[in-house]
Amino acid sequence: MPEQAFKFALVRRADVRAGQRVLDFGCGTGTLTLMIEASEPGAEIVGVDVDEKALDIARAKLGANRSKIHLYQASPGPLPFPDCSFDRVLSCLVFHHLRRNEKLAALSECHRVLRPDGEIHIADWGQSASFLLRAGFLLTQLLDGFESTTDNARGLLPEFIRQAGFDAVVETEHFATAFGSLRLLRGTKVTSVASCARAG
Ligand SMILES: C[S@@+](CC[C@H](N)C(=O)[O-])C[C@H]1O[C@@H](n2cnc3c(N)ncnc32)[C@H](O)[C@@H]1O
Repeated sequence: MPEQAFKFALVRRADVRAGQRVLDFGCGTGTLTLMIEASEPGAEIVGVDVDEKALDIARAKLGANRSKIHLYQASPGPLPFPDCSFDRVLSCLVFHHLRRNEKLAALSECHRVLRPDGEIHIADWGQSASFLLRAGFLLTQLLDGFESTTDNARGLLPEFIRQAGFDAVVETEHFATAFGSLRLLRGTKVTSVASCARAG
């Protein structure tokens, strides 16, 4: 699987600038999180995950890299961050682990914590671009479960991103892999600055 390639592409698409706050949602062992930091050391990077063991590995990697990334362990559900507190949310290979209601709730939380004009950038499995890729994705579904992956296979993730309140939802890149069609998606939070100020 060209994991490095699509992670690099995701980071490049996010176009993180110095001074911005960036959340890696479902950061796992911190591979993508460190790549974001390397792309823009002047940004403030935060990783969040539900898995304490993965975060322990991430902490060791961060220490070895003298990283300034902040890591948080969170329960599934509300994110432990204020409204309108990030410029970018990135997420790689997380949403296909979530059932439909969990996908929608997590996307709403990502929308809530973004500032106006903030962007979400997701890399995850989407509708397969060919019969061969669909066959490959069956393997992913056998490994990760059909309940959480079926909506990905149906290509519903962009619609879920819209339903969570994002505008201008587009696919920015597609990677054909042995495990299916890996799609990069972007959505923008088009909310007034005033509504964020009201939210405190
Ligand atoms: C396949 S791993 C991907 C890790 C990392 N994003 C990467 O690409 O290397 C999926 C991660 O999503 C995390 N995860 C699953 N549900 C989550 C949730 N509701 N909130 C935050 N993280 C979650 C898992 O604990 C796991 O670390």
